[in-house]
Amino acid sequence: MLFVHPDKNAPSIMQYFGDIAPHLGPHVPEELVEYKEGLYTKEIKANWKIIVENNIDHYHLAHLHEGTLNMYDHAKAEFGWEGPHYWFYEPLVKDYMDDVENASLQPLIKRVPKEKIGAYVPWFFPNIGLAESEASWSTFHVVPLAPDRTLVTFRTKVENVSSWEFTKQSAKSSMSKIWSKYGDKGKYEGDASDPMASGDFMAEDIYACEQQQKSLQSPMFSVGARAERGEYAILRFQEEIKKWLIQEGAEV
Ligand SMILES: [Fe+2]
Repeated sequence: MLFVHPDKNAPSIMQYFGDIAPHLGPHVPEELVEYKEGLYTKEIKANWKIIVENNIDHYHLAHLHEGTLNMYDHAKAEFGWEGPHYWFYEPLVKDYMDDVENASLQPLIKRVPKEKIGAYVPWFFPNIGLAESEASWSTFHVVPLAPDRTLVTFRTKVENVSSWEFTKQSAKSSMSKIWSKYGDKGKYEGDASDPMASGDFMAEDIYACEQQQKSLQSPMFSVGARAERGEYAILRFQEEIKKWLIQEGAEV
């Protein structure tokens, strides 16, 4: 990514992002390689802020993704803020961690020491996320197109090893018993075109965001109770948005 600011007196990009650096994973992205299938773009019928809120909300993981992201231990998640930026970490569940060298779908990233393996999912305000895991490193770019349409782009990098290593890892992974419990199960059985039965966490998130957008049009819509800690990130993000709007002269 190339960052450009039209004001030559603007703070440097490292000043802007710098405080979040200690919360990132030990991955070294420049040593990893991007691959063709790791590029994913999708237009989502929702406001860009709904997509960010979904991404930084810890509370929805155990509910919406109960069968798809359950190889991560949501109860042990750690999260917080550095200025406008959000950080998040959660470890793998124990039986996946115990067998991770075999079970991982792709070769493990060697720069991540065993005691630091987990999912690091920070959000850089306003519109860039990372997903740094045991075997992949992704950027998540959220671009508003209209009040109710957003383009999302994922780019994923993996360990720089031969395709033979990927084939071997995939074969080992397919023999691991843990995947009978984790990874690609829908919330219920049904046609794979139903996002909740798809076993695909992206389909689950897109569905949730688009339903949330639709609900804003409903005369029955109201802001309900919120989990004080689990959903705190959403409130914190909205406060940050408000601050920037006021700073830019909006009457809020
Ligand atoms: Fe999600």
